[in-house]
Amino acid sequence: MFVTRAITDVGLERLRAVCDVDLWDEATPPPYETLVVRTSGCVGLLALLTDRVDAALLDACTDLRVVSNFAVGYDNVDVEACSARGIAVGHTPGVLTEATADLAFCLLIAAARHVPAAQQSVLRGEWRTWEPRGFLGRHLQFGTIGIVGMGRIGMALARRCHKGWGMHVLYADPRTNEDAERELHAQRVPLRQLLAQSDFISLHAPLVPETEYMIDAAALRAMKPTAVLVNTARGALVDQDALFDALTQGRLHAAGLDVTDPEPVATEDPLLHLPNCIVTPHIASATVRARDAMAEIAAENLILGIEGRALRHAVGRRVN
Ligand code: GLV
Repeated sequence: MFVTRAITDVGLERLRAVCDVDLWDEATPPPYETLVVRTSGCVGLLALLTDRVDAALLDACTDLRVVSNFAVGYDNVDVEACSARGIAVGHTPGVLTEATADLAFCLLIAAARHVPAAQQSVLRGEWRTWEPRGFLGRHLQFGTIGIVGMGRIGMALARRCHKGWGMHVLYADPRTNEDAERELHAQRVPLRQLLAQSDFISLHAPLVPETEYMIDAAALRAMKPTAVLVNTARGALVDQDALFDALTQGRLHAAGLDVTDPEPVATEDPLLHLPNCIVTPHIASATVRARDAMAEIAAENLILGIEGRALRHAVGRRVN
């Protein structure tokens, strides 16, 4: 099997106990050509969201039985092409829900209250006195949170916002989430209504053709100028040029992005130099507990797939 990065030890040990592991032990992902060469001849591939697993790779890797993605999202994998070739696809849902919701909430508060800009001002020696009008942010309690994509992570964030901060919860999703409606009195509304009425908007939708650049110039224009936008899902849900315009033209209070398009974001990207935009390097699931649990599931999915058994968490058509 080919493992494209050093996942945490608990996963590597589990894999090494049952098979030969060819590990790409570098700090950055294998280039696509290397990924193809190292995967060909393997029955299992443990991939990260930074690895493109497409039909061309699958055609070159005819022994492959399973692709185990070390992530809950799987937009990097052509699942349809895998299913068509009888290759199982695994992912790691559930175990990173709370860690991701924590980071979304952290970005929400930090962006609403200008935390990074305030710290930068201290580091620059600009803290002269207590400022009655300095760094005025947005009040969280009793605000309206708009959740775009009310799945596990959206629900976990909505729970924090409603139960902890008394927020009213709106959500946009192709499906009704009955738990959210019962437990949090969440209201399902069309996306445009959510954008217009929310004080805080957090994205939790998968990246699919229907959601790509869903937060475009028109969507940003629909938001309140006092709103805060948070994205811990996938960078390509947001048109970053339009976001830059909204943030610099006073049409949006602030944004907190844990994901960008592309990743990594270029250091000269103007978004990075805005005082009202926070960018973190896709760290939402980066807690020891979440990453260990992801490693265990990804390893188990890989082993089960190699053995021709049903995966613990599979996507696409069932092949085993
Ligand atoms: C991270 O972005 C994941 O999909 O797990």
